[in-house]
Amino acid sequence: MKQRILTGMRPSGKLHLGHWGGALEQWVELQNSNQYDCFWLIADYQVLSDHIIDPNVIRQSVIDVAIDWLAAGLDPEGTSFVVQSYIPEHAELAMLMSFIMKVNELERNPTLKEELKERSRDQLTVGFYAYPVSQIADILLPRAHLVPVGQDQVPHIEFARLAARRFNNIYGEVFPEPHAKVGRVARLVGIDGDAKMSKHLGNAIYLSDDPKTVAKKVMNMFTDPLKKTVADPGHLEHSLATDGVVRMKPHVPFHYLDYFDPDQDDLKDFKERYVKGGVGDTEVKQRLIKLLNTFLAPIRARRVYYEAHPTLVVEALVSGTARAKTIAQQTMEEVREAMRITRYGE
Ligand code: TRP
Repeated sequence: MKQRILTGMRPSGKLHLGHWGGALEQWVELQNSNQYDCFWLIADYQVLSDHIIDPNVIRQSVIDVAIDWLAAGLDPEGTSFVVQSYIPEHAELAMLMSFIMKVNELERNPTLKEELKERSRDQLTVGFYAYPVSQIADILLPRAHLVPVGQDQVPHIEFARLAARRFNNIYGEVFPEPHAKVGRVARLVGIDGDAKMSKHLGNAIYLSDDPKTVAKKVMNMFTDPLKKTVADPGHLEHSLATDGVVRMKPHVPFHYLDYFDPDQDDLKDFKERYVKGGVGDTEVKQRLIKLLNTFLAPIRARRVYYEAHPTLVVEALVSGTARAKTIAQQTMEEVREAMRITRYGE
């Protein structure tokens, strides 16, 4: 039997290049390697932890994520698209896991720590605080071996590994220990160069952007404020002081080219010429626009196809979730058996 992969996203909006580089790129690669049985989870329980969102918006976001994934190249024929809330076993296992994981362990999680800093205690829901416990259940339910994720998710996978080990120690061997696998692009800055690409900051290039929008965003990217003419020497990063704090900002088009340009040898040469002087920012931006639009073309084509065939999207969700549900039920039988949560008289 093939080892299993489970990974997922919250359905909370359109996907961008950061999602591609941090996660989707390796998902597609792992899928195409044919070595794993893959489960792609749309975490529509977990998205409830953020803030109260109109339920109808969440329903639509589930579809939107599925379309983004299909466009990106995930294939519902050989892999399973899973809607978390169709499988209430997630909630059952999360609840059971909450009794063996410690508050201290939860609070050590650097990703959660950062997120807690942004929230006031009186607005903090129990569900948000404990979402890493529910994420443990997502990973353990299909008994996943591998969890390909962006860098920020790694602490959650380590937490799941700890949970698997502890459960097995207390109740007997049920779960394999899952491992994280991090995408090639740990952190993609937004077009402003200030922060990580994020839809909240309005600095993202979306997988669904059309060629004109991509061109416009690239033309607005932060480059080298010191360079006034084509002949001026250029800088690949720039230090900026705000409120006495010095930060390095990358030359954003080159930052993207570093990750996305397939001809890295030529890019090296191009960069050297830019640094010496003689290459203008417009030329750099044109190179990136061309490259991004080439990269996005097949993604756009698949999107057009699936948007024209919405029943295929729903079918992908229904069939993938049905498969995952059968596996989840088997796992829960074993969990209940191991914990002696069985009915008298049976
Ligand atoms: N926390 C992930 C995100 O915010 C989504 C997620 C839910 C997930 N369950 C998961 C990721 C299990 C990996 C494995 O996008």
